[in-house]
Amino acid sequence: MNDSTFKKNILCIGAGYVGGPTMTVIANHCPDYRITVVDISEEKIRRWNSDHLPIFEPGLKERVDRVRGKNLFFSTDIDRGIAEADMIFVTVNTPTKTFGEGMGRAVDLQFMEQTARRIREHASSDTIVIEKSTIPVRAAETLEKILSTNPNGVRFEILSNPEFMAEGTAIQDMENPDRVLIGSMDTPEGLRARDELLAIYNRWVAPEKIITTNLWSSELSKLVANAFLAQRITSINTISAVCESTGADVTQVADAVGRDSRIGSKFLRAGVGFGGSCFRKDILSLVYLCEHYGLAEIAGFWNYVIQLNDYQMERFVRRILHAMFDTLVDKKIAVFGFAFKPNTGDTRDAPSIYICKRLLEEKARLTVNDPHALENAREDLKGLDGAGFEQDPYKAAEGAHAIALLTEWDCYRDLDYRRIFESMEKPAYLFDGRNHLDHDALYAMGFNVYCVGKPDRDHFA
Ligand code: UDX
Repeated sequence: MNDSTFKKNILCIGAGYVGGPTMTVIANHCPDYRITVVDISEEKIRRWNSDHLPIFEPGLKERVDRVRGKNLFFSTDIDRGIAEADMIFVTVNTPTKTFGEGMGRAVDLQFMEQTARRIREHASSDTIVIEKSTIPVRAAETLEKILSTNPNGVRFEILSNPEFMAEGTAIQDMENPDRVLIGSMDTPEGLRARDELLAIYNRWVAPEKIITTNLWSSELSKLVANAFLAQRITSINTISAVCESTGADVTQVADAVGRDSRIGSKFLRAGVGFGGSCFRKDILSLVYLCEHYGLAEIAGFWNYVIQLNDYQMERFVRRILHAMFDTLVDKKIAVFGFAFKPNTGDTRDAPSIYICKRLLEEKARLTVNDPHALENAREDLKGLDGAGFEQDPYKAAEGAHAIALLTEWDCYRDLDYRRIFESMEKPAYLFDGRNHLDHDALYAMGFNVYCVGKPDRDHFA
């Protein structure tokens, strides 16, 4: 198919975790659409054009191979991409502000605004602009204001189409989504634009899974979905504290509670706290939004979810400290797992960062092990005294006083813990922050075992 025979030109600005996989899936289902993904980072684009993609997601590579160079292209020529596009997905990053008003809570919209100005400058015909990055409610209004100052008479229609994929299952989440959400203006032009986007999703998503709403509901739903998920984790984590004190077992409680179909069983795994690039950021954004509208009580409620998440991490550290006779000075702790969840090397906002820093403050010596996140872990703990890194878990545990498991990688289940126990200082402690290992077996081997939401199991009389 040559350029002129493509039905539409789609552009995606931002070749990150969202843009790359999303466009790959669309390109696979829409061979008659020409899709170009652009980014300011030459390195990122070079890797998207190579055999070493900049992100790892199961199922991604084979899908890229199938369509790259046919109807999927990666480029740094943003302006040309804009000029040729009928539809533009915006997937630039929208981090939490680290300066000025709203610092630490509000979303930093500078990349969004720069992108809007660039689109306004280079668009050569009427264009649909689709917000896919997670942004504050009513961000579409800002986009609209900037785009409408276009001097060439080009018209823009803005849609919101938030992404719900999770890392590690991105392709699966997109191929078989629980729902697709499209928000538009309730005007004839808005609805026409919405239908053009619907035509894309209709290729592989059942109509009953596609929800259409107004723009603001769509923008808000994304924040709320992440806030609810994070809040569920926090809810079960609060109960884990109650379990540790009372002798109840949080896994059993979660199972009993989750079997109520009104509650559901997912996202009820107690642990050391939630991490990742979205949950904290999106709750903070919701908090900021509530404060902006004078809803102090609601802001307080959501803010407390974050505070409790921080408390869960701190609680884990204190449990280690108290179990080990209230001092960690010069004790070696092997950290099993650093990524914010398994099957990714991503460590953004990982609980391990906070926990490791606190353990180092207590002057423990750490040896961090992770099958895929050691490079990031080095960066996250750079310059901190006492932090070591080891790719081999057996070596990491050698001579250690304790193991702290922070990410539930499968590989940690398959280790020879008898061998590990023999190589450790005694008494040997195991703190399972994800309730991932066989605690009975470990206890029988001689470990003092401490798991989230379960009573202590030590060998002291
Ligand atoms: C999340 C949302 O799931 C996704 O829909 C959204 O688009 C982006 O944010 P992600 O950050 O990739 O996805 O990870 P997720 O699998 O949701 O896990 C987030 C954190 O919660 C991890 O640190 C994980 O360990 C923790 N978690 C999850 C728990 O502690 N307990 C659980 O039961 C589930």
